[in-house]
Amino acid sequence: MRKNVAQFSRIGFILSAAGAAVGLGNIWKFPYMTGVYGGGAFVMVYLITILLIGVSLLVAEMYIGKIGQADAVSNFENEAPKAKRAWAKAGYIIFIGLIIMTFYSVVIGWIFYYLYVALTGLPTNLQDAQNIFNTLYASSPWLQITFHTLSTAIVAAILFGGIKNGIEKFNLLLMPTLIVILLGLMVYAMQFEGFSKALAFMFAPDFSKLNSEAIIRAVGHSFFTLSIGIGSIMAYAAALPKETNIFRAGLWVAFLDTFIALIAGIVIFSFLFQFGGEPAKGPGLVFMSLPIIFAKLGTVGTVIALLFFLGMAFAGLTSAISLVEPAVMYLEDRYEWSKKKAVIFNSLLYYVVGILVVFSTTDGFKEYLMIGKKSLFDALEFAVDSFLMPLGGILIALFVGYALSKERVAKELVPEMGEKIFAVWYFSIRYIAPFAVLFLAYNSLTS
Ligand code: PHE
Repeated sequence: MRKNVAQFSRIGFILSAAGAAVGLGNIWKFPYMTGVYGGGAFVMVYLITILLIGVSLLVAEMYIGKIGQADAVSNFENEAPKAKRAWAKAGYIIFIGLIIMTFYSVVIGWIFYYLYVALTGLPTNLQDAQNIFNTLYASSPWLQITFHTLSTAIVAAILFGGIKNGIEKFNLLLMPTLIVILLGLMVYAMQFEGFSKALAFMFAPDFSKLNSEAIIRAVGHSFFTLSIGIGSIMAYAAALPKETNIFRAGLWVAFLDTFIALIAGIVIFSFLFQFGGEPAKGPGLVFMSLPIIFAKLGTVGTVIALLFFLGMAFAGLTSAISLVEPAVMYLEDRYEWSKKKAVIFNSLLYYVVGILVVFSTTDGFKEYLMIGKKSLFDALEFAVDSFLMPLGGILIALFVGYALSKERVAKELVPEMGEKIFAVWYFSIRYIAPFAVLFLAYNSLTS
């Protein structure tokens, strides 16, 4: 059983859970997907899903952590009613985090490289910007591996500190800094004409652009961005003070996450429309469009570029630690491994596959690392978004909505939410979330 319960302070928990949620998903993925899938309509589906399903599931996942107070496998096992022992297996969702890390850490590595680019000379036109990114992405496996190694090492170093001295301290410092950086950039972008174009692009939905793939990706991304379904939030909630109101904490986390994604999108598209970039660039969007703009601003631009990529690195790292911690907690709790051993073992697992992920996009190797028509990188990302995280989400919904008795759940949550909101939340967990998620998984598997 877990020996280190209630290590977070309340604010430490909210900022750490928000740190888990706010990540590359917000600053890298959300803007590029909004660009690729046509803007406002995509954003609308994303927002509706967060509101209708995301928040409910987030609270449900926190709830399991709070009552179980242990690693996810133990939580499902110990809290499931005797007749439903099969539930214990649901806890293995914690390994999805390691799968995510195989590409997440590589992308954090790109950000480190861009800090270097900012220091040594930003590209001044789109051509140069594309060259820098494409050279990194398609022909510099060793450079990518070097930075992937650095990212893995930093994440491991923080995890060595545990919840109180590693995760909480890191988040208390980095999350406020990130918010200040992004708000500063937005205020700066307000002077552009591109600012209002960005608002129109993101908030005026054009439903003709909304195909079924866009819907599936928007729903999938809402899970990804809230960190639902893989036990990250559960692991943090297992270490929070008993009296914490998880409903309110959940609302805070969802709010901060959505707020930061929207701000990042507005900033990026403002710059993009102001300086004539192409929104549907895909994964390279943040790495190609922004550097040119920063370059135009001279020395100030270099400082802004450093701040931007630093903020993005912070967002990525605070999420990365939450992706690995559940598996670390599991090995510590269940097998009594030392923290050091658990951290090193899990880090190595994702690190090695991460190297293959790097090669799957680089010339000379990529032919050998395809899954179907997708590179290993794209295939893993797609599997996580469209299938693995929804699977975790559905297990959480079914567990809280059906396996546990309503009386038990109500006893804990009615005092936090009140009767009315509890009724709505419970309805969502029982009837809306599981079917919406099933729809998502079904569609992604058959498309
Ligand atoms: N939510 C994080 C992001 O948006 C990714 C993540 C998923 C982190 C699941 C933890 C758990 O980047």
